[in-house]
Amino acid sequence: MFTKKPPLGWNSWNTFGNDISEELLMQTADAMVKKGLKDAGYEYVVIDDCWSLRERDEKGDIVTDPVKFPHGMKYLADYIHSKGLKFGMYSCAGVKTCAGYPSSYHNEFRDAKLFASFDVDFLKYDFCNVPQGSNGPLLYHTMGMALKESGRDILFSACNWGSDHVETWIRSCGAGMYRSTGDINDNFASVRDIALSQVDKLAYSGVGCYNDIDMLIVGMYNRGNVKNGGCTDVDYKTHFSVWCVFGSPLMIGCDVRNVNDVSLELMKNKDLLRINQDEECRTAFVCGDNGNKGLCFFRHLSDNEYALMFVNFADEEAEIKLDLTNIGLWDGCGHGLCCRDVFTNEKIVIERTKTEKLAAHDSKVFLCKTVSI
Ligand code: GAL
Repeated sequence: MFTKKPPLGWNSWNTFGNDISEELLMQTADAMVKKGLKDAGYEYVVIDDCWSLRERDEKGDIVTDPVKFPHGMKYLADYIHSKGLKFGMYSCAGVKTCAGYPSSYHNEFRDAKLFASFDVDFLKYDFCNVPQGSNGPLLYHTMGMALKESGRDILFSACNWGSDHVETWIRSCGAGMYRSTGDINDNFASVRDIALSQVDKLAYSGVGCYNDIDMLIVGMYNRGNVKNGGCTDVDYKTHFSVWCVFGSPLMIGCDVRNVNDVSLELMKNKDLLRINQDEECRTAFVCGDNGNKGLCFFRHLSDNEYALMFVNFADEEAEIKLDLTNIGLWDGCGHGLCCRDVFTNEKIVIERTKTEKLAAHDSKVFLCKTVSI
């Protein structure tokens, strides 16, 4: 499927891992509607690994686990579609998924047809247990073609964790998004490592195929499958801001049935989502650098607007300085930036430089326009 904006949705893995069921998925779809996430733009409800039995049937098809999903996947797809949402599933390019379930190696066309028969709209395609000597890009080409032939318009979400210089070839395989990082876990160090590892790769993301810097941990508070210490609300704010400004797909990873108001409002922040979903899908670039403690990013948006983000990645207070020369507004050009803080709505004009003093892990995001000074 060709998609003009980074996909938004929810995925079962971060919180639930193996512990998934029809009931969970239906309740999640209900919660996404009731809590305004669907209206905010989140549309995919995706089952990750662990949805099938351990063996294929005698015809060779993967079998849905009848205990976890008693009415089968088509029933679940119909329910999710009836809520105005889209349905996603998971397979893998190897002989087994990462959790050891049947996977699509040399069964690509068969499995793509099966997913199409379930009315799937999205397929995440992992990279575990690939036979030695296999050609990774070709495995993604095969599934890319199988999905096209399947009879359904399915968004192809590749997941080889950023290996094999994936950014240079994945767009050629028909993927609509691709994981450009290893797995996230629920602590700030993981957010920082992912963010810093992506700065040089952002230019590979663009309309039709987006760098996916992994599913969100917002609202998890050290509960669930990828818990590893947890985060504060400040950490989650910075995490979500970076994912939005970097233009990543946003796949919610917490239990949306029980999400708290702070996390819910963060993930529904209109200005951050407007930046993330900007139709021009341009690249954020570094415009200020405090010796690895903090960075400042600038991104061109449509409608003569710009996003400006200061991030303190350090575990202590730090100052990050923007000099407008670094975004092309040279001293004497007669122009500065008029900016609105997307969290507080405070307005500031930056005439030449701006230094933000930020607490550990904190960040600020502004929507800006140029202004004569
Ligand atoms: C990993 C993948 C995770 C999750 C997991 C399932 O390889 O990066 O996002 O899908 O497999 O086993």
